[in-house]
Amino acid sequence: MKDISPIEWKNFKLKVLDQTLLPHIKKYILCSHFKEVGEAIKDMKLRGAPLIGITAAMAVAMEMKKNKAGNYASLHRDLKTIADYLIKTRPTAVNLRWALERLIKTAEHNKDRRPSSIRDLIIAEVNKIYKEDLENNKAIGKFGAELIREKDRILTHCNAGALATAGYGTAVGVIRAAHEKKKKISVLVDETRPYLQGARLTAWEMSELGIPHVLITDNMAGHFMQKGMVDVVIVGADRIATNGDTANKIGTYSLAVLAREHKIPFYVAAPSSTIDFRIKTGAEIIIEERDEKEVKIIAGKEMAPKKTKALNPAFDVTPAKYISAIITEKGVIRAPYDLNLEKTFLNKETIASL
Ligand code: MRU
Repeated sequence: MKDISPIEWKNFKLKVLDQTLLPHIKKYILCSHFKEVGEAIKDMKLRGAPLIGITAAMAVAMEMKKNKAGNYASLHRDLKTIADYLIKTRPTAVNLRWALERLIKTAEHNKDRRPSSIRDLIIAEVNKIYKEDLENNKAIGKFGAELIREKDRILTHCNAGALATAGYGTAVGVIRAAHEKKKKISVLVDETRPYLQGARLTAWEMSELGIPHVLITDNMAGHFMQKGMVDVVIVGADRIATNGDTANKIGTYSLAVLAREHKIPFYVAAPSSTIDFRIKTGAEIIIEERDEKEVKIIAGKEMAPKKTKALNPAFDVTPAKYISAIITEKGVIRAPYDLNLEKTFLNKETIASL
């Protein structure tokens, strides 16, 4: 099966496939400074919770390669400056904080070593984060595919595919794995207004991979569920609270409620880097508010009266009670999520670092 990769990471330079231009233009931009990576994240040239974390880590690696700090204190200060800048780029996906903190902890756990060796350890950790994400996605795909039946018609929202990760994808990873197992599945791709990640990115991935799919607008989902044309819903996640409440692309919550009404399983597929054990419920998740222009302007044309204001929250929170299961790299987790997520992912070391 074809490989789709949203980035190329070589010699401390990051080539980013500009996702704002997909599906019709395939152009790469080069980032060799952490602020360029930050700009690419802010401008949505790269997006998706895991990918934001991975590329922020790479931004740290490129600065560590150039760093000349002569002692631990100034190296730690430099690291914090870079991390503080990157963490402000997008507020909802916790993978960003997770990746940056993992690198800061690498420095802190090795503070007695020489700065050059701390820098090497940080760079090694970045490469590990990148590699692990791909492995995790493959594991999510394998576990998730077991939940998919022959000829299932799967509805997905936004893009939780290779383009949102190190490769392969989370929700799309499950779809791919089921397709690879020849389950004869087909996919309803939610357009995902206002940014159209479904139409522009997921539909493109499906075409590249040869997976049968149709595009629908977001407001058609209920209709197709009512007609019995959706067997399962699978989405990704930007942040999962300890109790299982899940933030994902705006529109996910409505799909979950509709799925419950129609007795359709609703699955969230996400790696453990998306779980935020520091928060108890989804009420604590910060929802990114984006420019109203994304709602008002379509294909360069203003659609609403000039004076009309638009709201543009980028994510919503689906309460855990609507989620049939969370598919992770360690297996399929079911309710009660607080107990089962903690049991699966928390050890003494991670609890201490919370
Ligand atoms: O605003 P985006 O495009 O970064 O939002 C992406 C999503 O909501 C995805 O579903 C989520 O990050 C999971 S990606 C594996």
